[in-house]
Amino acid sequence: MSAPVAAPPEAGPETVQRAEEVLAGAAVPAGLVDFHSHLVPGVDDGARDLGEAVRGVDALAAEGIRHVLTTPHIDASTIARPELFETQQREVEEAWFRVVDACVDREPRMSFHLGREILLDTAAPELSDPRVRLNGGPYVLVEFPRLNLPAGSEDAVGHITGLGYRPVVAHVERYLYQGDPVPLWDEWRHAGAALQVNAASYVGRYGANARELAWRALELGWVDLAASDYHARGRPWITQAREELRMAGGDAQDEALFERNPRHLLRGEELESVDPLVQRRGAWSRIRKYFRGR
Ligand SMILES: [Fe+2]
Repeated sequence: MSAPVAAPPEAGPETVQRAEEVLAGAAVPAGLVDFHSHLVPGVDDGARDLGEAVRGVDALAAEGIRHVLTTPHIDASTIARPELFETQQREVEEAWFRVVDACVDREPRMSFHLGREILLDTAAPELSDPRVRLNGGPYVLVEFPRLNLPAGSEDAVGHITGLGYRPVVAHVERYLYQGDPVPLWDEWRHAGAALQVNAASYVGRYGANARELAWRALELGWVDLAASDYHARGRPWITQAREELRMAGGDAQDEALFERNPRHLLRGEELESVDPLVQRRGAWSRIRKYFRGR
């Protein structure tokens, strides 16, 4: 897989070697991959400055993350305007290089990668530039306006599949759905999408509704990937989310969502299917259902 390496020109040989190992595919060794975050300072609603970005990397490292693929926001309509895109992309890469350079000694076991989270404000996004895809591979992280999910969203997803790429719909539990989201999730899946849930949703950090939908998608077996969507403030909530999954009897789902499939994604490999979660009955389940407002 050819992919751009998010390393500054002046980065040390260790950074380059780590990146080469990852791109060689033999690596992505032990350690977790987080492929959705906002750690490039000053370019979106994530990290506001270099210090916040570095602390964000530290926070992910403290939760066991060893491969950070950060994904600053971009509108699909911006990608369609080459001059504007190039200006923004250069700004993103330069800012990210500064973060990597500041972190390489603090987090010597960490590898750094870059992608974008694309807001689908056009139905037919241009994706041929590898810099708009995740680590330059086949996966494309996409989102819709959360409060105004457009009609025909499945067509936009299908367009990406038709181009030969694999759409990953971000935080499917966080949209304001008009009615039951399950039929729409089904359409996205049939249009070729993988579905991603934010770790923090499993512990209720986005509210009861997002938490309910995150667990529901898991019970359907329709969540392919979990990620932090970390904005460099507060906590990533990965460790706590994984604990909740395991306490609910979801050891297999936990490993697939947080370990194996993010690693497959970073390598550009096919994702594994995830079995529906059959929740463990008992006191813990009753307590959680209470907090989920059932
Ligand atoms: Fe995001």
